Amino acid sequence: MLVEMKSSLLATFALIAFHALPASAQLPASAPSPAPLNTTTIHLNITGIYEPDTLFTFQCVPFDVPPGCTSITVVQIYDKPLGNSLDIGLWDPRGFELYDGRNLSAGFRGWSGGAKSNFTLSAANASTGYIPGSIEPGIWCVAQGPYVVIPEGIHWTLLITLGFDPVDTYYQPFPSDARIGSDPNPDGPKWLRGDMHIHTDYSDGGFTPADIVQFAQEAGLEFMVSSEHNTNAALLYYGVVAPEDLLIMKGIEVTTRNGHWQAVGIGENDWVEFRYHPGDTPGLEDAKREVQKRQGGYVSINHPYIHVNCDRCNWTFPDWDFDAIELWNGYWDETDQMAVDKWQELMVEGKMLCGLGGSDFHNPPVKVGTPTTIVKADAQTENAVVDGVKRHRVIIVYGPGYDLTMCVRAGNNPCVEVGDQVVGEGKLQLELGTTGMNGTTASLTYRKGTSGCERRCAMQPTWWVLRMLSF
Ligand SMILES: *[C@@H]1O[C@H](CO)[C@@H](O)[C@H](O)[C@H]1NC(C)=O
Ligand SMILES: *[C@@H]1O[C@H](CO)[C@@H](O)[C@H](O)[C@H]1NC(C)=O
Ligand SMILES: *[C@@H]1O[C@H](CO)[C@@H](O)[C@H](O)[C@H]1NC(C)=O
Ligand SMILES: *[C@@H]1O[C@H](CO)[C@@H](O)[C@H](O)[C@H]1NC(C)=O
Ligand SMILES: *[C@@H]1O[C@H](CO)[C@@H](O)[C@H](O)[C@H]1NC(C)=O
Ligand SMILES: *[C@@H]1O[C@H](CO)[C@@H](O)[C@H](O)[C@H]1NC(C)=O
Ligand SMILES: *[C@@H]1O[C@H](CO)[C@@H](O)[C@H](O)[C@H]1NC(C)=O
Repeated sequence: MLVEMKSSLLATFALIAFHALPASAQLPASAPSPAPLNTTTIHLNITGIYEPDTLFTFQCVPFDVPPGCTSITVVQIYDKPLGNSLDIGLWDPRGFELYDGRNLSAGFRGWSGGAKSNFTLSAANASTGYIPGSIEPGIWCVAQGPYVVIPEGIHWTLLITLGFDPVDTYYQPFPSDARIGSDPNPDGPKWLRGDMHIHTDYSDGGFTPADIVQFAQEAGLEFMVSSEHNTNAALLYYGVVAPEDLLIMKGIEVTTRNGHWQAVGIGENDWVEFRYHPGDTPGLEDAKREVQKRQGGYVSINHPYIHVNCDRCNWTFPDWDFDAIELWNGYWDETDQMAVDKWQELMVEGKMLCGLGGSDFHNPPVKVGTPTTIVKADAQTENAVVDGVKRHRVIIVYGPGYDLTMCVRAGNNPCVEVGDQVVGEGKLQLELGTTGMNGTTASLTYRKGTSGCERRCAMQPTWWVLRMLSF
């Protein structure tokens, strides 16, 4: 029985090997700036045109920063009203080339995509999305990414102001999970409620991190993932507003021109390359390896199918070999069902991805915590939640007020939970406990498709997806 989907819950059973997590690596802090000179402000005015064939490339507009510079302000002007769209970011002299994760030369200093027309960065502070800190002399790049180019091209101007005011304070990072302890839960693993995908004004969201923390608490969450587009700037700041009882996990939504994927469980100084296309070297493979092997996180495909108003947001890389996949993005619609169907197809091929949910909150009407992803973790820590995801100990429910417990028994064996392996032969008994799901029907998805389950189901015990349908 395959029922029209208005789902309030997804849960997975899967067999998955345990992966030890390397400690999250950090980039070295940059050396302090040389003593500032007392120079006048420098104004640069750079203009150019991007022809249509530059679409989806990433361009460096180089400018020279002399010793003693302590602040950089960039204003970008272009013919946006004609229909053009030009993303913007900043790289420092450590290098603009594609970062392959094999050395620490990435010069990334911020990205705001199409969300900002101007930004400022200094030793002490920066516009949201940009990384404050010492300003090394050398060739910097304003990064530009033509995203929509009309036949007449994009005519652009960059007004760059270099300041030389003396520096008396340096930026103090306050990492997002700084307040949470690392002890394992003394009572054993616990199911923690969270939201895996949230934006703020550190990229293109309409709210501040302080607002988001309040929404997360109102939704009864115990953890949330900070996942701004292409920048780690919020990860350096969230600790300032983090309450004692909310784990704010460190992530980046890696926003490529061929779809969005998410790195979660990284360090606050970690950044993930996004400027490759299918077939590039270094490319997606290198970036994934960097997250999984060095940064200690998991990698997840976000909203593989999404509505027409988001161009270049569907997943169009041929690579589906990820730790996880976002099956439920914001309010449920047919594109989420498409993600579930793809997930099943991948599992049939032997690719065991963990199914996740995320609100992808930018602005209402989407709500933080809708859907809520519930992860079984040994502690309320980043590493423990990442481990829970890698072990597929994950349930997704509609939001606050919804919950599910489930247990599978083989004979008189102890209860086996989501993510655990069922050992043994013969009949299995499935027990469900639900909260907030009156009037729902359960169905099981397995190798051969989806079947309704009245009282008994016969199936291959290799993997199942349990799905509760609400009407
Ligand atoms: C530096 O410039 C400021 C004004 O811009 C001036 O007041 C100050 O005297 C100058 N200091 C030196 C050492 O020249
Ligand atoms: C920048 O340069 C362009 C082209 O030379 C000129 O049209 C524009 O007025 C300049 N803008 C500023 C603020 O100086
Ligand atoms: C780091 O890697 C990049 C790209 O592979 C390369 O261009 C650069 O020279 C390397 N830098 C160092 C210090 O090895
Ligand atoms: C900079 O951007 C802000 C909005 O982000 C805008 O209010 C302001 O006018 C802009 N400043 C300049 C000089 O373009
Ligand atoms: C840092 O910059 C932000 C906006 O760019 C501003 O709101 C804030 O007041 C600044 N903080 C300090 C300490 O200057
Ligand atoms: C993305 O995929 C969805 C579902 O297949 C489709 O409706 C939509 O048109 C696609 N978007 C774009 C921009 O191609
Ligand atoms: C759900 O069903 C239970 C048991 O029948 C009942 O006590 C509860 O009030 C119902 N809840 C809702 C929201 O209908």
